Amino acid sequence: MEPAPWWTSAVAYQVYPRSFQDSDGDGIGDLGGILQRLDHLSDLGVDVLWLSPVYPSPQADNGYDISDYQGIDPLFGTLEQLDELIEALHVRGMKLLMDLVVNHTSDEHPWFEESRASRTSAKRDWYWWRPPRGGFAGGDPGAEPTNWQSFFSGPTWEYDEASGEYYLHLFDRKQPDLNWENPEVRQAVHAMMRWWLDRGVDGFRMDVINMISKDVADDGHLHDGPPIPGTSLGDGSASYLCGPRIHEFLAEMHREVFAGRDGAFLTVGEMPGVTVEEARLFTAPDRAEVDMVFQFEHVGLDHGSSKWDLRPLRMRDLKASFGRWQAGLADVGWNSLYWDNHDQPRAVSRFGDDSPEHRRDSATCLATLLHLHRGTPYVYQGQELGMANFPFTSVDDFRDVESVNHFGTAMVAGEDPARVLAAMRRMSRDNARTPVQWDASPNAGFTTGTPWLPVNPDHVRWNAEAQRDDPGSVLAHYRRLIALRHQEPVVALGDFAMLLPEHDDVYAFTRTLESEVLLVVCNVSARTHRLLDLLPQARAGRLLLGNLPDEDPDLLRPWEARVLRID
Ligand code: NOJ
Repeated sequence: MEPAPWWTSAVAYQVYPRSFQDSDGDGIGDLGGILQRLDHLSDLGVDVLWLSPVYPSPQADNGYDISDYQGIDPLFGTLEQLDELIEALHVRGMKLLMDLVVNHTSDEHPWFEESRASRTSAKRDWYWWRPPRGGFAGGDPGAEPTNWQSFFSGPTWEYDEASGEYYLHLFDRKQPDLNWENPEVRQAVHAMMRWWLDRGVDGFRMDVINMISKDVADDGHLHDGPPIPGTSLGDGSASYLCGPRIHEFLAEMHREVFAGRDGAFLTVGEMPGVTVEEARLFTAPDRAEVDMVFQFEHVGLDHGSSKWDLRPLRMRDLKASFGRWQAGLADVGWNSLYWDNHDQPRAVSRFGDDSPEHRRDSATCLATLLHLHRGTPYVYQGQELGMANFPFTSVDDFRDVESVNHFGTAMVAGEDPARVLAAMRRMSRDNARTPVQWDASPNAGFTTGTPWLPVNPDHVRWNAEAQRDDPGSVLAHYRRLIALRHQEPVVALGDFAMLLPEHDDVYAFTRTLESEVLLVVCNVSARTHRLLDLLPQARAGRLLLGNLPDEDPDLLRPWEARVLRID
């Protein structure tokens, strides 16, 4: 049998550079700051650093709007520092994943500037330009070529007065979508990717990569989507999520960029709306598309009609979802595992309990639950410290384009500002983007200047310095979880079986590799449960890792998690 790929026993760590560590006092994190903090990553034991975008960018979406794919924004440093980072990571045995944002560019990218310059520009067809809807004048309400709603509110089309046509932007108007139907676009992206690999990077996290193929008719027509209740817009996702040529495009990318290249690479495709069946196709090794995908099912389980319409998470829904993903990718393909990233509010506040009584225990419980699944876990900066949501008080506190646009649109629609703000407080992406809490000093050791987003006031208690030498800390628990995956093949590769699928509080499963069996039990609640009544087989278990001291073999205390070896 082929040996399992290296990334099956690896753990990745995401750095959102703007909020990680500032080295020059401008209040914005940078490459110099990352270089200063590499010991934190080695101490944690992670294998891969995924770096969110550092390329030149107008920063309309904090770097997910790129105006030059082959440079570094002076805000973050220089290309020489990026080279230094690659080298420093490699010396420490870590790899670097760059963020590849190629569904769209910035509207300030020279490709788009050339494309918009005239209808006959050589790059006109590099983006999606369309005339106004038949019978409408450009710029009029309803004249957009399709009714699609943008991820960042409003229509996905922006009217260009000068040329009398609209361009498509699934995200902000400053993020025009590239036209992947055009082979020149694909070739330019492949060349850019090869350039980064030649520089020494080890792979890519591919931003919304399942949106690059749009369902376009032979005559160029794009289709309206079903109306979204309460708006004049429609849901276009059937036209751009896992579109008709997506597998072809990813297989081609693999061939053109990775095939025949020496090295141990990693590719992870971010894929909103991807199903298990699609994920099997994307990650089947013999299809050579990507190594793993980020799926979104579990982070949608607490959404109502939208992410701003929040519902409590039901444990049985989480079990059904994770269980299906574990089973679906058991024989073919591979899972990635995450709670937090720069687009999600902090998991300890969302799925755990960030009250002083339960914060540490719920953070370590959620971590244990996730890391003991089969797949590659991703830790988002600060998650390993138990960082929580920010106590936002006013709409002026928010910086994120998604939140700011949402508030504006909701006000125009006459919604109650207090309700809108309450939802933003819980779900805004800015919750994940406050500076990393390194120590208890006024700016948490993040900057000597004024941080671009305020430091969470709870940093005086919740910070890396306070946790580094404390064996009971969240940080120490993450270290142990990461080490366990490295040491125990059953954690990396064991088969997964869900237990107690209907239980409201206790999340339990086994992992099995040949004669090795692990039983994982997590009490995802503040209630105490009788472990041996629920799972008599736990009696025979030896504790491999737990999150609370002095365990009682019979009782699972609030937010207690145990990994038991069953002999
Ligand atoms: C997904 C990224 O993670 C998010 O931060 C960004 O806003 C969108 N893609 C658009 O690039």
